[in-house]
Formats: sequence, C-alpha cells, structure tokens
Amino acid sequence: MGREVLNFNVDWLYIPENLNDAYKFDFDESNFEVVSLPHANKTFPHHYFKEEDYRFVSWYRKHFKVDERYKGKKVYIYFEGVMTVAKVYVNGEFVGEHKGGYTPFEFDITEYVKYGDFENLIAVQVDSREHKDIPPEGYLVDYMLFGGIYRNVWLKILNDTHIKDVYFVVDKLQDSVAEISITTTIEGKEVRNAKILTEVINKEGVVCSSVITDIKEMQKEIVQQIKMENPLTWHPDHPYLYNVSVKLIAESEILDNYTFRTGIRTVHFGDDGKFYINGEPLKLRGLNRHQTFPYVGGAMPDRVQRKDADILKYELGLNYVRTSHYSQAVSFLDRCDEIGLLVFEEIPGWQHIGDENWKNIAKENLREMILRDRNHPCIFMWGVRINESLDEHDFYKEMNEIAHKLDRSRPTGGVRYLRDSEKLEDVFTYNDFIYNLEGKIQLPNHKKYMVTEYMGHMYPTKSYDNLNRLITHARLHALIQDKQYGIPNMAGASGWCAFDYNTTSAFGSGDNICYHGVCDIFRLPKFAAHFYRSQADPHLYGPYVFIASYLIPSFEEENGDKLLVFSNCEEVELYLNDKLVARQMPNRIDFPSLPYPPFEFSLKECRIDYIEVRVNNASITAIGLIDGKEAARHTLRPYGKPHKLILSPDDNELIADGADCTRVVISVVDENGSILPYANIPVSFEIEGEGQLIGENPLVLEAGRGAVYVKSTRKPGEIILKARSHYVEGEAMANVNTKKIDFPYV
Ligand code: GAL
Repeated sequence: MGREVLNFNVDWLYIPENLNDAYKFDFDESNFEVVSLPHANKTFPHHYFKEEDYRFVSWYRKHFKVDERYKGKKVYIYFEGVMTVAKVYVNGEFVGEHKGGYTPFEFDITEYVKYGDFENLIAVQVDSREHKDIPPEGYLVDYMLFGGIYRNVWLKILNDTHIKDVYFVVDKLQDSVAEISITTTIEGKEVRNAKILTEVINKEGVVCSSVITDIKEMQKEIVQQIKMENPLTWHPDHPYLYNVSVKLIAESEILDNYTFRTGIRTVHFGDDGKFYINGEPLKLRGLNRHQTFPYVGGAMPDRVQRKDADILKYELGLNYVRTSHYSQAVSFLDRCDEIGLLVFEEIPGWQHIGDENWKNIAKENLREMILRDRNHPCIFMWGVRINESLDEHDFYKEMNEIAHKLDRSRPTGGVRYLRDSEKLEDVFTYNDFIYNLEGKIQLPNHKKYMVTEYMGHMYPTKSYDNLNRLITHARLHALIQDKQYGIPNMAGASGWCAFDYNTTSAFGSGDNICYHGVCDIFRLPKFAAHFYRSQADPHLYGPYVFIASYLIPSFEEENGDKLLVFSNCEEVELYLNDKLVARQMPNRIDFPSLPYPPFEFSLKECRIDYIEVRVNNASITAIGLIDGKEAARHTLRPYGKPHKLILSPDDNELIADGADCTRVVISVVDENGSILPYANIPVSFEIEGEGQLIGENPLVLEAGRGAVYVKSTRKPGEIILKARSHYVEGEAMANVNTKKIDFPYV
C-alpha cells in the first residue's frame, strides 16, 4: 500500500581516495572503512586547518538488497545533500550526477536494481574539490563547504503511478476561516477511475477537513480547495501543526499516500513596512545561522540539527533565523516548524556571480529549495539573490519569477550590501554594517525593508576575550536591536551571527574561525547571547536574569562602574550578600524601544566595591521581579580554584545507527559551581562502550568551556565518557545509552 521510505544511511563503505573503477561491481573493498551517514569526508580540530584538507575526491559504496515484494514498483534513491558533486552508479552503471551541495536530488534506479537475495551495489563518487563553476564558489567564500555525503539518504519505493509533489497553501485566513488550496502532482502511467483524497488531521488524529476529487484523464495536476473553520493557527508563540494526508486511489486501491506536516498561517509584508503573520504585526528579531559544526562541518545527524533550532529559540530567545547562505537540513526546518521559529531561507552564494552555466545551477538550486520546502510553515521568505552580489537585472528578474511561480504565498528577498542596488524583490533585505560601532543602523530606504546582517566582522569577539569586549559586544547588539524596534517601518533585523563558524583562509582570525557569533563554535553563549535571551516574553519563554560581569575592579575595565544586567523582568533588585542595595527599572533612556531593555546599576551608587567583594568572598545577586515577586535570579561570587569538571550531554539516549550523536559540554567550575572564564585548561577523554568520540583529545577549554560529541556505533549499549584534567582532582563522567534502530532501513 502506498509508498515506503526507507532509511539508507547505514553500512556504507568509504575511502578518502579517488580510485579508478571504484564504481565497478567487483572492486577490492579491503581498504574501505565502514561508515554511516551523515558523514564528513574528513574530521578536523575545531580550528587551524585549511580548506585544501577537505577538497578531494572520495568514494562511497553500499551493498543492499531490494525485497522481492517491491518488484514491479519504482525504486528511487534520494540524497538530501552531497558536497559538492555526486556521481551515482548502481551495479556498475552510471545513473546520474548532481552539482551543488546544499539541495536534494533523486534518481530513479528501478531499471538498475535486482530483487530478492541479490546484493546490489550503489557507488557514489563525491567530488569535494573547489568548483568555481558551482555556487557558492567561483571566487572567495567566507565559510567552509566541507565534503562528503553529509546528509541523509533514503530509498523510496513507489507505485508506478504515484504522487510526485503536493503544494499546500493558505490563500486566505480571515474571520477564523482558512481558505486552502492543495495542488497534487501525479507522475506515472495513466490510471482509470482515480481519485485524490486529501485530509487535514489534527494532533489527536481527528480528520478536521477532507476533500475528494476525481482525476480526469491525462490530468497530472489536481487542485483542491478546502475551507477550514476555526483552525488552530501556526504562529511562533503557538506553532500548531496539522498532518496532511493525500491519497491517490484507483479502483479503491490506494496507490500512494503522501503525508506531511504543515501549519495554517499567512505571512506578508504590509505597505506600512511591517511583517505580518495571520494579519498581526510581528517584529522579526533574529540571527544568522551557518550549518557547520566543529570537527565535522555540516555532517551532523538530525538530532544535532534539531538542537540548533532549540538553541536559537530557547537559549537565544529569537523568533526568526536566516539560513545564511544556503538551504539547510530538513530536520532543522522540521524543528523550526515544531517550536515556532520563523526562517528566511536563501540560495547558495556569496558575493560572486559566475557565467551562464553557473547561473543555471543557481536557478536550479532555487527551484530545488522551494520545491523541497514550500510546505514548511516556518519559512516566511525566499532569498533569491546571491548574498551581497552586485546587480544583474536579467538574472535576478528571472530568479524572482521562478520563486513567485513556484510559491505564490511568500515574498522574495535578496540580500545586498549596496543601498542603491536595484530592488526586484518584494522586500529589500540589507546587510547594514556601517554605523554598528556607534550602535546604529540606517533607516529604511524602501517600503518593505529589513536588515539581514549587522555586527559580525565589525566587532569579532571570542568567548575568552576580555570582559570589556564581551560587554561592548553585547551592548552593541542590544543597541542595534533597540534601534530596529524603534523604527516602525522596519520589519526586523538579524545579527551576524548566532554561532562562530569555520571559514576559509582569507577570512576570520587566521585560525579559520570567524568569531562573529553571539555563541562560540560549540554553541556556548557569550554575553551577547544573554541579551538576546532576555528579549523573549517571560510569560511564554520563562523569566530570565543575567549579570554580565566577572567582578573585575573598575580601574581595570572601562565598563567598571556599570553593572549590566539582561533581564525580561519588570524590575531588578541587586543584593550584596543578603543586603538589598538597589531596585531598579530597565534603562529606557539608552534603550527606549527594546521589549526588555537591559538594567544598568552604578556600582558606586550601590556602594559595591569589587575589591571588598572579593576579599570578603561576598556575593552579588540580581533578582528579577514580575508583579513585584521574584521570578528569576542570578548570583555571582568571586572565583575560586578549578575544582571539578562537569560533563553535560544534550541527550542521554541515541540510536545505534553509527551516526547519531550528541554534544557533550565540558565546563570547569570552582567550589561554588561557577564556570571559570579564564580557565583555558586541557581536558583528556576516554570513551568506553558502544560509542566513538568526535573532537579533540585533549581539548583545551576556552572560557572554561568546550564541547566534544559522542557518536553511536552500530551496536546498542552503553557509552561512558570520562574526562580528566591535570588541574582538577577526580574524573567527570557522562553516560549515554544507545538503542536499536526503530525505523525502517535498508
Ligand atoms: C557579510 C557576509 C557574511 C559574513 C559577514 C561577516 O558581509 O554576508 O557571510 O561574511 O559579512 O561579518
């Protein structure tokens, strides 16, 4: 019945060499290594390596059987993403090629496979060298591409006649009625007496709306309309998702059942310059995200992709992310749908536009992105322009047309850094860096306008930089967000960027990192991250208070007399030990427009002297009040000695598929449990059981913290990670269990 989609990630063979004839059926595989996908063609330390190190050709092979019962069906192999050029062979025959590492592709391999006990072979040549003919390459790029089959692969079994695609769009949402059109594209042979049954199903499994339509002869595209009364809508603050099931039925047999999740919502940019969701204005407050991680580049499994969305939403308090500068993992977008994080998704590219062939690939990338993602409620705009490129009228006119043709429900944007560049898109999306160091951005010069980047290279800040820099970095982010909140006709702004990222030799700090994040490369917060977190509504996302200080006396630091506290509470009380020294309202003078302006205390006025605090081992506590009651607190104490290491895994259970993994954060704390911000100490690891360590060993902590990843093997069991450092006594331990694969796979 219907379709079957089988996970195709496990038991691959890999060799980091370009061997002649490695596509052939009989080929000596003794030097190949067994791997699971997602897979990086090479792993690295978290900095100080070069792009040349991953720029090579490698081969992946996998033996697989296709069940006898699939005979007569269609067999497709679907790749979510291979960096950068993939050539696919089945049983020694060339099947197809795909150029570009950020979009999916599939091949019909029905005629190449054999059924039953026959061991089929798929071989993929992965060319991860620099490709000046494929976006984003051609000139310099300020991020690393990495290499390998770095996303999931699926085997899809379909009936001869099946559903190729479904496009779900809410045309109107008014007076609690949603008018929805669903366009289903059918592929395959003509079938008689066929129908399309579409059902919208709520979380309880109840069909809330359904429509059935007869398919006329030769009809390939069926458009259905439904009206839903009182639907539960999708919004960042209440992201309700429905399941949609589209069945292709012929002579009462179900030929296909195409299911997906989506949300009911509308988005638009008004003539007043505001962004609207479901007819209500919403200021977009976001950051840019690169998809790369330490050690493995883009090759992180779904669990870790999803975690990033959680960090952006819950640890950084954002309502929006820009997927700079390409389409990112589907699992990331799925999680954005689930938790209500809006996404501005764009095509691969960075400043450079190539020749006609290059542009054709960019157009193809745009089509692939929109066709893959247009049912995601989280996406509110398509980026159709090469990030920060110069004008090219004909090219960009066509790009806009492609986007509008494939999706009538979302506006286009095109990110630029030239104020007077030609606006062919619906929204003028501008990277505004010039006045950032004064805490400023410019006023909109177009009706529908948003700022897509600020800060970044203007003020790179390392997690272990001096206190002053961390505070100034956070303050500038706060001032710029304050400015955008104060400009009613600016739809929103996203800073550069969420996480520090690996970059090519031309950029960054010379160690192949751009320290532009409000979090470090391990996703651990710098002070600026706490500013963003403090902008989320306390009633929905929890009250928050954070003191941005290390208790360094004022004669050593410019920001010395001021104590900056980020909080979404109404008032903040400051205590010296148990003594209340001040109770204050947010600083609405310097930050008149932010939803939750920071609080600033003068230490002199509070009679707090850090020298005395330190000599007397006193504490400073900020208590955030809502309705006059304590809602959140943060205490700082003078730092002691490195006392112990703490290992905090993000997950305690993984799937034993050989690729699933979780981040384990390491911190060094003193007797009070405070992380020591200048303890850049080496930590060594031992791993026992059914796990593999991804990361440096030893790892030198930065700002008292760092992270490695623990990856499953193919055998379920327990993983024990142990960490030690010469500077602390004892050993820290983390346990992670792995369980059997519980999904269909080949
Ligand atoms: C922008 C660019 C980003 C990044 C950033 C650094 O110009 O769009 O990709 O390079 O600068 O601040």
